[in-house]
Amino acid sequence: MSRFLKSGLLCAGAALVALPAIAQSSGLGRAALPEEVAAWDIDIRPDGAGLPDGSGDVWTGEELYEAQCAHCHGTFGEGMGSWPMLAGGQGSLTHEHPQKTIGSYWPYLSTVWDYVNRAMPYGAAQSLTPDEVYAITAYLMYLNDLVDDDFELSRDNFGDIRLPNEDGFYLDDRVALEWPVFTQAPCMSDCKPDVQVTMRAAVLDVTPDDPTADARRAQARAMAAASGGGDAAASTPEVEPDEEASAAHSPELIAQGESLYRACRSCHQVGDGARNSVGPVLNGILGRVAGRVEGFRYSPALTGAGDAGLIWTEDTVSDFIADPRGYLPRNRMSYAGLRDADERRALVAYLSTYSE
Ligand code: HEC
Ligand code: HEC
Repeated sequence: MSRFLKSGLLCAGAALVALPAIAQSSGLGRAALPEEVAAWDIDIRPDGAGLPDGSGDVWTGEELYEAQCAHCHGTFGEGMGSWPMLAGGQGSLTHEHPQKTIGSYWPYLSTVWDYVNRAMPYGAAQSLTPDEVYAITAYLMYLNDLVDDDFELSRDNFGDIRLPNEDGFYLDDRVALEWPVFTQAPCMSDCKPDVQVTMRAAVLDVTPDDPTADARRAQARAMAAASGGGDAAASTPEVEPDEEASAAHSPELIAQGESLYRACRSCHQVGDGARNSVGPVLNGILGRVAGRVEGFRYSPALTGAGDAGLIWTEDTVSDFIADPRGYLPRNRMSYAGLRDADERRALVAYLSTYSE
């Protein structure tokens, strides 16, 4: 369609006007006759300018369409084989597979008239009279639920017609909107004052190793031991302000998580030398695709979830351990669930300290 708009509508007129001047100055050819210009100058503008006299109604259009168009485009404009569909697709433009038809996509009825007049029926282009093109255009509108069956299209009412997607097209506004942005002097240093690491791309292994994780873990363990794993806040030694840690989790939270991890320990190992046991190793679990620890035999449910794109993040692990069977039916982790959201947050914070 856009290809047609560009080459068909915009260029045809302009090229013809320039021709006689070139011909004179180079001493070649002759000026085109008015009849010759008229034969080429058949483009129709959105407001109907360029239309010949004439009219045609839906019923006449149906007969013509059945005889000359339906064997390629289908009785209801539904398309046949690889011939394009001419009706339907309304509301589909934002879908993954939009159906762009006259009714759902084309901005102007003038393009329909012009296209049919210029190029259809395929193999016998420009064999239709103006009245026939009006009638077929009226019928195509009917197939797209735009008019009733008693409708007649003519040069007189053509300009009143609006297609549903006209407002979906707008003038190219790059000069106003994009040019100023791209002509600014680019920022080349310290462009973003505070950078926070919010996710780990552990699967792709592109996130640099975190040298502070070990230190944080040791600190958390010490605190957990000192406080019995419970309310650590009161006796907490002041922590070195550490950008990564403050962007991530407080040592108190991690310590609380370590004590909660007792519920997982019988099945999952973490830390140096961890091995798969009843459950997979949980080192580096955050950022990893579900069901991908090497050497562990998962249920089809869990590997399937990974195939479908489940990635373990703080949120998804938390949702999973809140209610493992509810979250992922038919997985094989026999664990009833941790209902308290704060406790889950702490537990996940603890797991986040174990990278691979
Ligand atoms: C022999 C098969 C054939 C016949 C008969 C035929 N067409 Fe087509 N039609 C095509 C093909 C092929 C295209 C796509 C052309 C292209 O994309 O360059 C097309 C494209 C179109 C389009 C543009 C569709 C779009 O969304 O891009 C319209 C409108 C159309 N035809 C109308 C008609 C009408 C009206 C008739 C009858 C008068 C007709 N056609 C007869 C094969 C046919
Ligand atoms: C009774 C043993 C058991 C307990 C207790 C247990 N898990 Fe699991 N966990 C498993 C098994 C088995 C799987 C693999 C399930 C499957 O393949 O369907 C698993 C899978 C997981 C996964 C997904 C791993 C991956 O690679 O996709 C996470 C995350 C997880 N468990 C976290 C926890 C946490 C956190 C706890 C503690 C709250 C916990 N589990 C308690 C046995 C257990």
